[in-house]
Amino acid sequence: MEQLIYERRKVFDPLLRFTHLWLGVLIVLQIFTALIVDYIDKGVPRDTLWYIHVWIGYGIGVGLVARIILGIMGSSTAKFSDLWHPALWLNVIKTKQWVDPHRWGHSALASFVYLVFYVLLSVMVLTGLSLAAIKLNMGPFDSLLGGNKALKDLFHEPHELLYNFFWGFILVHFGALIWHEVKDKSPLAQAMVSGYLYRLISKNDK
Ligand code: HEM
Ligand code: HEM
Repeated sequence: MEQLIYERRKVFDPLLRFTHLWLGVLIVLQIFTALIVDYIDKGVPRDTLWYIHVWIGYGIGVGLVARIILGIMGSSTAKFSDLWHPALWLNVIKTKQWVDPHRWGHSALASFVYLVFYVLLSVMVLTGLSLAAIKLNMGPFDSLLGGNKALKDLFHEPHELLYNFFWGFILVHFGALIWHEVKDKSPLAQAMVSGYLYRLISKNDK
């Protein structure tokens, strides 16, 4: 029988974990509303679905602002500085070796993708709020852009294109979590629920 001994530390604080849960659930719902809308005929049900999409979008906007505040003044592992590892990323490009040293915080390699994720999510929220004003006369940009149909494509094209990044991200994120659990023999996926990271320190065969 194999006996594994771990060191464990609490690394992710409750606010960071809650923002992760909030954004994760709302983005999955958002993708779902965008997917099913094509199967619904024009009229009240379709309009209602777009209102739901916009209200979920407001929730995503609030979650994003909360995450940015945590990134600037949150705990040490929530700060954006914990996600910033340019020397390591350059090393991966130069050596073509995917070295991801164990650290008590975010994965240094995955952090690059997380930063891209937040930049693109900001674009989604800004283009989404603009579309809400142009097409539905809703939201904070209504007084600025309300009903200005000429600008519709300017915001619709990037919004629809970037949508692909988000479902792609989810597939890669799940794949990477499973891969790490198998490779490192450590429970990683639970870290954004419990806050604990584990590092394998010894292995005995009994
Ligand atoms: C990651 C988050 C988001 C995803 C994946 C997403 C996805 C999409 C997609 C794929 C469309 C085009 C659907 C189509 O034309 O068939 C769309 C349209 C739209 N989205 Fe989003 N969206 C997101 C966030 C937001 C946010 C934050 C808002 C606003 C607060 C928003 C508001 C809108 C509006 C108003 C439209 C146009 C509706 C229409 O054509 O009448 N979206 N979204
Ligand atoms: C069962 C579902 C999920 C689990 C178990 C999970 C687990 C985790 C874990 C353990 C991390 C930290 C990993 C590391 O440091 O590399 C993480 C980070 C992250 N995950 Fe997830 N995740 C889930 C779903 C999602 C979804 C649906 C999204 C977005 C659509 C998402 C977006 C993110 C982002 C943006 C980060 C960076 C965290 C930060 O803001 O600091 N996750 N996730």
